[in-house]
Amino acid sequence: MTTEEPSEKAQVRLGDFATQYDIEFRDLRFSVPSKKSGKPHTLILRGVSGYCRSARLTAIMGASGAGKTTLLNALAGKAPGKGSVTGQVLLNGRPFIERDFRYWGVYVMQAEPLLATATVKETIMTSALLRLPLSIPRKEKVQRVNDIIAQLGLQHCQGTMVGDEGTGGGVRGISGGERKRVTVGVGLVTQPHVLLLDEPTSGLDSETAVSIVELMRDLARQGRTVVTTIHQPNSTITNCFDDLLLLSFGQLIYMGKWTKSVEYFSSLGYKCPMYTNPSDYYMSLMKDAEASPRLVDTWKKAGGDWVTTPRLTAPEPQTPFTSGSKVVAADEPGTANGHSTLENGRGQEASEAGAADIEMGAVTRVHERVNGEAARTSAQESLNETPGTSGPEGRGGVEGGKGRKVRMRSLQPPAWYQVWVLAIRNVQFYLRNPELMLAKLFTYIFMGGFMGLMYLRLPLDTATAGYNRSAALWISMFAFTLMPSETACSVWNQERAVITKEVKSGQYRLSSFFLAKTVVSVPFETVIAIIFTVIIYHMIGFQAKLDKYLIFMVTLILVNLISEMVGFIGGIVTKEVTIGLILISVVTYFCFAFSGFIVQPIPKYFVWLHKISYYSLAYTILVKNEFTGLNIQSPLDPLR
Ligand SMILES: Nc1ncnc2c1ncn2[C@@H]1O[C@H](COP(=O)(O)OP(=O)(O)OP(=O)(O)O)[C@@H](O)[C@H]1O
Ligand SMILES: [Mg+2]
Repeated sequence: MTTEEPSEKAQVRLGDFATQYDIEFRDLRFSVPSKKSGKPHTLILRGVSGYCRSARLTAIMGASGAGKTTLLNALAGKAPGKGSVTGQVLLNGRPFIERDFRYWGVYVMQAEPLLATATVKETIMTSALLRLPLSIPRKEKVQRVNDIIAQLGLQHCQGTMVGDEGTGGGVRGISGGERKRVTVGVGLVTQPHVLLLDEPTSGLDSETAVSIVELMRDLARQGRTVVTTIHQPNSTITNCFDDLLLLSFGQLIYMGKWTKSVEYFSSLGYKCPMYTNPSDYYMSLMKDAEASPRLVDTWKKAGGDWVTTPRLTAPEPQTPFTSGSKVVAADEPGTANGHSTLENGRGQEASEAGAADIEMGAVTRVHERVNGEAARTSAQESLNETPGTSGPEGRGGVEGGKGRKVRMRSLQPPAWYQVWVLAIRNVQFYLRNPELMLAKLFTYIFMGGFMGLMYLRLPLDTATAGYNRSAALWISMFAFTLMPSETACSVWNQERAVITKEVKSGQYRLSSFFLAKTVVSVPFETVIAIIFTVIIYHMIGFQAKLDKYLIFMVTLILVNLISEMVGFIGGIVTKEVTIGLILISVVTYFCFAFSGFIVQPIPKYFVWLHKISYYSLAYTILVKNEFTGLNIQSPLDPLR
């Protein structure tokens, strides 16, 4: 890190783990339906087995399309979309409930959406408020956020808006590297045990990339399991790696210590040339049509025994992978029982001790028989620790006995508190986007003035008196139908990516977001409808009676609010804003057609549309309100 180092205290607060989580994956296969006829499916991951250990930084490398992101998705228990995943992912030796990943892990995807108008500190703070239990005092949450900001070296830009210039928006904000660090910070607030990162360094200059990888290494040293995919790392970056996982066309060709990888490939006759970065050399091997299948085959044969072996068992002395390495008895620190040492909260030393002695990917059935049960028991013990004694807040505890899936309970704050936090963020969003509100306000003032002049002081004694009056009512209502819906749909589009991600990752429910949105927008939308009513009511010359005035105003307020809601729903049910706007236009068109003004009588087969349309109801109220008690001398009086 080039920026100020965080205090020692901050380091301790962020990473004093009593429990560490190892991830093991067995025979992971991911297949997608094949486009070619006759082929049932295409395999993306072809039986990948291995593990990622706590307190270590594991780098996943491979050519583009090798399946790195797919593997990370599978580890995070992320829904595979159209494809299907088979195989097992184990947390300290036991299966876990996929949706519970959020309680102990964080998955930082490649292009993580962030709210452009929030500052760096607000972004991380909101994450803390939304995800940490209410039992943690606010002061402590602020302290934790400050610690994270210090650890990520973001102090200098903590008050700067995140922005979205780099992602196609118009808000100038922080740099790409800072953005990546903010996304990590957002995840760190729950003090996750496991961090999965997809290409956190892509698109960054080498210095920033190094600082990000150093940060990941530091986080691993605190006891976390850190797994990252990475492209073209330079030697400074590779020096930070503990373990390496090489994927070639969905299959493993190496998994083990980074420092042993050169030795492994040399033993197979693939000697990395001097002055060549090993990672570049491995990439060239994976692209080599001859070498790649051979390496896959060799790994399959040599690593096969290891696959079903529990983690942290001691190595087989004479495997081709471990020649010359020190073999440690199972009861020495850092081996099978070494996990207990890790659990005592000295992640780094214990991990280093263990790491020095254990060769990953090189354990035989003999050791499985000898040490397997011990390792498994140790893993289970760690999972059955007293709830809440350590680890991520937002995870209340761990449940489940032998053989059952690991189940965790959430200690997230209650929904009402989340609504409150989201409402504050929404207010900030509007305050930072004043043009959204001001444009709307001035449009209604202008439209009100325009309509007032259009129907200025409508007479009661002309042939068109009834028609003009009902047209004025209709067009007043019209002002609060299409525009609020379309504006809401567009505004939702600005927030769509962030809200979708937050809801999908289980931070809060979509209903909480809506409630917060409604709480914030109701006052503003009400004020707009009031201003509009004040302008047009007397200009047009509707009945000057307080009750009628109020009914007119309240009707417009309600139409405005319902239209806004319709706009949000239109935005949510469609994936693209353009489609959303088209949908809204179509719905509005039909509702208008049968609202009672355009066509009378309504054809029988469209009466149902008239009945379900809120425009019809609103228009009927407005007409009855205005025409009842009105002394009109027109043949077109709609109440005749
Ligand atoms: N849901 C899916 N449907 C169809 N194909 C998919 C799906 N998910 C992944 N793939 C395909 O699987 C292959 C591996 O994808 P993945 O994103 O895991 O690659 P990667 O190694 O992360 O590549 P990169 O380095 O470019 O990010 C790609 O060819 C991709 O098109
Ligand atoms: Mg990828």
